[in-house]
Amino acid sequence: MTTPRRFDGRRALVTGGSRGIGEGIARRLAAEGAHVIVAGRSLGPAQEVAGEIGGSAVQMDISDAEATMAAVAALGPLDVLVNNAGFDDFAYFTDTAPQQWRALLGTNLEGMFACTHAALPAMQQAGYGRILNIGSEAGRIGSKGNAVYATTKAGIIGFSKSIARENARYGITCNTLAVGPIDTPLTDAARAVPVHGEKMVQAMKDGTLLRRLGTTEEVGAAAAFLCAEEASFVTAECLGVSGGMGISA
Ligand SMILES: NC(=O)c1ccc[n+]([C@@H]2O[C@H](COP(=O)([O-])OP(=O)(O)OC[C@H]3O[C@@H](n4cnc5c(N)ncnc54)[C@H](OP(=O)(O)O)[C@@H]3O)[C@@H](O)[C@H]2O)c1
Repeated sequence: MTTPRRFDGRRALVTGGSRGIGEGIARRLAAEGAHVIVAGRSLGPAQEVAGEIGGSAVQMDISDAEATMAAVAALGPLDVLVNNAGFDDFAYFTDTAPQQWRALLGTNLEGMFACTHAALPAMQQAGYGRILNIGSEAGRIGSKGNAVYATTKAGIIGFSKSIARENARYGITCNTLAVGPIDTPLTDAARAVPVHGEKMVQAMKDGTLLRRLGTTEEVGAAAAFLCAEEASFVTAECLGVSGGMGISA
C-alpha cells in the first residue's frame, strides 16, 4: 500500500509525540510529508523521534499553561495541532483526592486549552487549520477506575465542538478521536495496577467488538484523515478508534 502525501508543506505540532499514540500520529503525519514538531516533557525522547522522522523537537510540560502558551506561540504558524499529551491515574473515585483531580484537569484539559489558545490566532489569520484532540471512549461511555480521567475526556469533546463552532468561518476544523484501548505505555501502566491491573486490560479488550487492543499505527491513520486538507467538510465530529467500543455511545 502506498502512503499518500497529504501533508507536503504543512507544519504540525503533536504534543506528547515522543511515545505511544502521539508518536504513532507524528510518524504518520511525517510519512505523509508534514514537518512535525514533536513536543515532549523531556527533550531527549522528543529529539530522538524527531530525528527519525525528519522533524524538530520542543520541550513542553503542558501542565504549565502560561509556559505552554509561550512555547507554542514561539513556534510560529502551524497548519495542524494535535493535542495528544495526557495521562490517566487509575483509581476508584473514592480513593482519589483533590490533588489528583487538579493534576488530571490541569494536563488533560488545561494543557489542551493552552496549546489551542496559542495556535489559533495564526490559523485564523491564515484561514486554514486542523485541530485534533485526543479523547477517549471513557469520555463517551464512562470507565470504572477512571472517573476523573473520563470527565476530562468528555470535556475534550465539548471543547472540540465549541472550537469547531467558533472557527468554522476561518477554515479551521476541530475534531476529537475517541480512542479505545491501544497498546502503549499507558496501557502498560494500567496492567501494572496491583490486583486489578491484568483484569482491567482484559476488560478493555473484551469491551471492543474486535476483542483486542488497537495499535498506534491504527490511530495514526485515523488522525491523518482528520488532519488532512481533504477532510474539509468534517468538523465537530468525535470519531471512535476503538474497535467498536463506543457502539452504545
Ligand atoms: N493508550 C490508550 O489505551 C488510550 C486510550 C484512550 C485515550 N488515550 C489518550 O491518548 C493520549 C496518549 O496516550 P498514550 O497511551 O500514548 O500514553 P503514553 O504512552 O503514556 O504517552 C503520553 C504522552 O503524553 C505526554 N505527557 C503526559 N503528561 C504531559 C505533560 N504534563 N506535558 C507534556 N507531555 C505530557 C507523555 O510525555 P512523557 O514521556 O514526558 O511522560 C507522553 O509523551 C492521551 O491523551 C490518552 O489519554 C490513550
